[in-house]
Amino acid sequence: MATTTAFSRAAAAATPAPAQDAAPRPPAVLRRMLSLHDFEEAARQRLPRPIYGYIAGAAEDNASLRDNRSVFDHHGFVTRVLRDVSRRSQAVELFGEQYASPFGIAPMGINALSTYRGDIVLARAARRMGIVSVMSGTSLIPMEDVARDSPGTWFQAYLPGDQARIDALVDRVERAGFRTLVVTVDIPISANRENNIRTGFSTPLRPSLRLAWDGMVRPRWVAGTFLRTLLRHGMPHFENSFATRGAPIVSSSVLRDFSARDHLNWTHIEAIRRRWKGPLVIKGILSVEDALRAQRLGADGVVLSNHGGRQLDGAASPMHVLEAVVAAVGPAYPVLIDGGFRRGSDVLKAIALGARMVLLGRPFNYAAAVAGEAGVLHAITLLRDEVDRNLAMLGATGCGELGPQHLVRRHG
Ligand code: GLV
Repeated sequence: MATTTAFSRAAAAATPAPAQDAAPRPPAVLRRMLSLHDFEEAARQRLPRPIYGYIAGAAEDNASLRDNRSVFDHHGFVTRVLRDVSRRSQAVELFGEQYASPFGIAPMGINALSTYRGDIVLARAARRMGIVSVMSGTSLIPMEDVARDSPGTWFQAYLPGDQARIDALVDRVERAGFRTLVVTVDIPISANRENNIRTGFSTPLRPSLRLAWDGMVRPRWVAGTFLRTLLRHGMPHFENSFATRGAPIVSSSVLRDFSARDHLNWTHIEAIRRRWKGPLVIKGILSVEDALRAQRLGADGVVLSNHGGRQLDGAASPMHVLEAVVAAVGPAYPVLIDGGFRRGSDVLKAIALGARMVLLGRPFNYAAAVAGEAGVLHAITLLRDEVDRNLAMLGATGCGELGPQHLVRRHG
């Protein structure tokens, strides 16, 4: 495949979006965005401090966050040369669908505070480019609006604390039209996110002089994201944590429902499996035993994840366990992975170790904050082109040709 320029709409979208949705001319700032890394600083300059802090932050000492990046240094590539790689495709098949790239957009909470209608922006860009996008349950736009706008989007749920409310949520997700359900299981309790306290982030956000100041120094965000949302859609609420609407995003008194989830166990997943007929994916797995258990009870795939380093600080990067999990569940079972991926080379290291697909969160959120849908399209294009170039330099014409023989352990 010839490498195409940024903003090309030529990607083999699984279900192309209607032509009248064509994005406006891309903003000039994107000319400076040469890699996914570049979006972070640009987003920091655009977002109010608590919002940027919430996205960028992890837990306690950020040990897992750091491990998620440094793990990619553990493997070097072993290239193959003088193979005809002039016809390449990075497409992958998953749950009976063909996706244009081996990476997708991970679920992230409150995207609609990063850019106007954030969840729709991310889902739409992913659909245009033919990649997976997973809508978070911790979101401020009703799931029905996203499913209607971008069919094919996956939905990620956090489980409410009792079976009746779990069932009601699962039924709502089905009614909304989602086909693939991701259940995140690495939040038995809330993590220790000191960074949120330091930056003044909470859910709901509490009105204060400091919050007002944080907004005043980001007037473009206040006008373009917050006030625009308020005027057109009213005060954003947590729409999708349960079958019913949750708390508003800004309130001096309302408490969010954080009712206990630490009693949840595999019997709840079994019940979901009986109820949900479409592909079911369990996210937040790190151990071989848990992956096998998910497979045994009929989940269609797992996402190896330490939640972007945002839950148990010190939890291993999922790249450390990928090979062992794939060896246990077998090469045909879909193992997805997230955590720290920024480059096409990172993505291909995971694919070589047996991952079916890689999910990336923060970089796409930053891209949305920088330039809305055009930003996300640009970020996807950058990563897609990195994957394409790297496939060629590895001597491969597709993801299926990659294997552990393309990697050598550097140390450890
Ligand atoms: C939500 O999933 C978060 O990590 O904040």
